[in-house]
Amino acid sequence: MNKKSILDLAIFGGSPLFLSPVHANRPNVGDVDHFFTSATSIFKNRILTNNGPLARELEEKLCRYLRVRNCILTANGTSGLSMLIKALDLKGEVIIPSFTFISTAHALMWSGIRPVFCDVDPVTWSLDAGASISLISEHTTAIIGTHIWGRACDVARLENLCAERGIHLLFDAAHAFGCTYRGEPIGRFGTAEVFSFHATKVFHTFEGGAVTTDDDALAERLRKLRNFGFGDYDRVDMLGTNAKMSEIHAAMGLANLASIETTIDRCRSVWEEYRTALNGVRGLTVYARSDSEKSNYHYVVAEISQAEFGLSRDQLVDVLHSENIYARRYFYPGCHRAEPYRSLFPGAEAGLPQTREIGERVIVFPGGASMEAYDAAQICALIRFVADKAEEVASSLAVKDGHG
Ligand SMILES: Cc1ncc(COP(=O)(O)O)c(C=O)c1O
Repeated sequence: MNKKSILDLAIFGGSPLFLSPVHANRPNVGDVDHFFTSATSIFKNRILTNNGPLARELEEKLCRYLRVRNCILTANGTSGLSMLIKALDLKGEVIIPSFTFISTAHALMWSGIRPVFCDVDPVTWSLDAGASISLISEHTTAIIGTHIWGRACDVARLENLCAERGIHLLFDAAHAFGCTYRGEPIGRFGTAEVFSFHATKVFHTFEGGAVTTDDDALAERLRKLRNFGFGDYDRVDMLGTNAKMSEIHAAMGLANLASIETTIDRCRSVWEEYRTALNGVRGLTVYARSDSEKSNYHYVVAEISQAEFGLSRDQLVDVLHSENIYARRYFYPGCHRAEPYRSLFPGAEAGLPQTREIGERVIVFPGGASMEAYDAAQICALIRFVADKAEEVASSLAVKDGHG
């Protein structure tokens, strides 16, 4: 990192630190030779999709890895959520965090269900089980928690709560592949869990997802729903959809699963690089991982306190973007502030103080297994430089924006 004065920062006319964009969550790619060998087999046997041998093999291997009885691969995580909502015949209202990806809310709305936005726990940033109690009404049919950044929700408390009220507990485990809760793999809690295997996830199938459950009857229903409702060769039993995973997607999954522990180890070293290099930067806290649980370390998340750091999270994002470092403001501004929810439920904001606070402080830095340690070190050195010169940077930004 060769910047000496703030005029060397790209936002003030200097050359960007990186010549090409460094994105948050650039895809990890596992064993490429493994992928090509499987891909060749697809063309040899001419089974391209429709629950082919590679998809079945991947389902079996995922069941073993996640220690769950059933894994139903889907075209993506959102179709997994939508199918699960249908398979359980959810209705009325479902409680979800607002601090999550929009697809959970959308999947509910597509089925005519009202998403009721719940605040998040100030420490884990996952659905606040205590806050969810007052949101349960006679119309509530389920709670869907998200294991944000791979750190598990308060599963035990939510399980008790949902069992007492006779409602389903589901989890969006899109961030949590390879992570544990009380030493057990995430994927086997609640009635069912849903993974996204999108290209940006720690384990991916280009696009894809899965529903995992120990409930065999639910799994059977999901398998039919995924395939237009077919129960037999030419017998349709129910209103289904098409959410099958093709063989080429499954081939990517098998290649990535073969090297998942190496991928996680690499994610961890990148995460450690950030944690060590940013240690002591005032006003910047790297989001903690629990020492007693396994994490996939895929997301390098931090909180910026403007009062101490000297710049707002948004100002830091602007500075980094100019340097071609595409840090993100995940999950900004929160589902409840996105359409159609903002117009439909304008009162939701009042019950979400933590969501609002956290949404303004969170920053996700480029991380993951495909990141070079050297690049992570360069990014950290730049952040340190900006933090040291925060006062000067803030006043120059004000002048630049015409407020000085
Ligand atoms: C928390 C969360 N839930 C759901 C999804 C939706 O998954 P997909 O993109 O596979 O539909 C994503 C990611 O894209 C996500 O991050």
